[in-house]
Amino acid sequence: MIRVGLIGAGFIGRNHLNQYEKLKDRVTLILCDKEPDRREGDWSKVGGNIADSKGSKRDVSGLQRYSDWKELIADPNVDAVDICVPTPLHKEITLAALLAGKHVLCEKPMALTVTDCDAMLAAAAKSKGRFMIAQVIRFWPEYRFLRQVFEDRRYGQLKVLHLRRQAATPGYTLNNWVLNPKLSGGAVLDLHVHDVDFVLGLLGKPKAVCAQGHIKPNGSCDRIHAQWHYDAVPLVQVEGWWDMPGNFGFNMGFTAVFENGGVHWDMNTGKPLAVYENGKDPYTPEIPAEDGYHAEIDYFLSCIEQNRDPKLTTPQESRDSVALALAEQQSAEMGRTIEVK
Ligand SMILES: NC(=O)c1ccc[n+]([C@@H]2O[C@H](COP(=O)([O-])OP(=O)(O)OC[C@H]3O[C@@H](n4cnc5c(N)ncnc54)[C@H](O)[C@@H]3O)[C@@H](O)[C@H]2O)c1
Repeated sequence: MIRVGLIGAGFIGRNHLNQYEKLKDRVTLILCDKEPDRREGDWSKVGGNIADSKGSKRDVSGLQRYSDWKELIADPNVDAVDICVPTPLHKEITLAALLAGKHVLCEKPMALTVTDCDAMLAAAAKSKGRFMIAQVIRFWPEYRFLRQVFEDRRYGQLKVLHLRRQAATPGYTLNNWVLNPKLSGGAVLDLHVHDVDFVLGLLGKPKAVCAQGHIKPNGSCDRIHAQWHYDAVPLVQVEGWWDMPGNFGFNMGFTAVFENGGVHWDMNTGKPLAVYENGKDPYTPEIPAEDGYHAEIDYFLSCIEQNRDPKLTTPQESRDSVALALAEQQSAEMGRTIEVK
């Protein structure tokens, strides 16, 4: 049994808790939140934009609970921590947990600056704990399919890739912390980084990025449309925004054009991913219905159980995703292409 301390029982913490409940035969869960109502399982004020996004009350009376994450980390019976607190706390809690020899799963974005990411990488190198950033899109079935067809080249070479992450302005985080760009990094680091990380995992680093954005007076970039330059793929466009009115909801999706076929998906249409090949009717390939959050946490646990470092997503790549997302924002702010080192 792995004793996992879940720190932060807000929107994403609740989604992680839902997975641990399904993994009871492998995990004993310990819960930590500074807010008394959340610690008591009263999540009626906790919303969200995907998966379990409805306020609810849960019976967590059977779980050991902490109000202070430092006390949880000092508990010698805790093997691993799952960090689901606001982004400014990612670095401090990760460093403390790794120093205590715990395994760490930390929500994306890894941190707000590349310097903080580097400090986290250095701490992981010295720790016996395994370390993974929760890059859930790498575990999402439709994106896994895209990666599979890219790798096995069943439709030929990739020519065009367009990824979309599109949302209403979020209003569900505690005290709206996510709308303060100094705390969240705005839509670029909080939302768009999912796709940045996916493209990085698929194609590696681009030669350069060039972006346009909608940057508000408080420095928050609520919308970014970026082009990534590669020699091998003629057009890679990655867009992310959260500037639509509340009733827009949330969408993620992509279009990939290969030499001999196209793959298209937009979650908010309710239609499954479709493949288009010349001379054939469009078809829906069989894609496992596994929940991305479940696959991500299951993988992290299996890395601990099998005593191996996570490979499906590495902290170094998560660090590079933060660097690339910040380079895109810099490009949008300066109105010029940024070379990527
Ligand atoms: N992977 C995804 O799909 C996804 C989705 C949403 C958010 N996130 C990330 O997860 C993190 C949390 O976002 P959220 O939307 O769940 O925020 P949230 O505001 O809904 O939840 C954060 C929780 O952390 C708790 N908290 C804050 N400070 C604490 C402290 N010092 N000690 C203990 N608990 C503390 C709060 O009380 C709150 O319950 C962010 O980094 C965000 O970018 C990831």
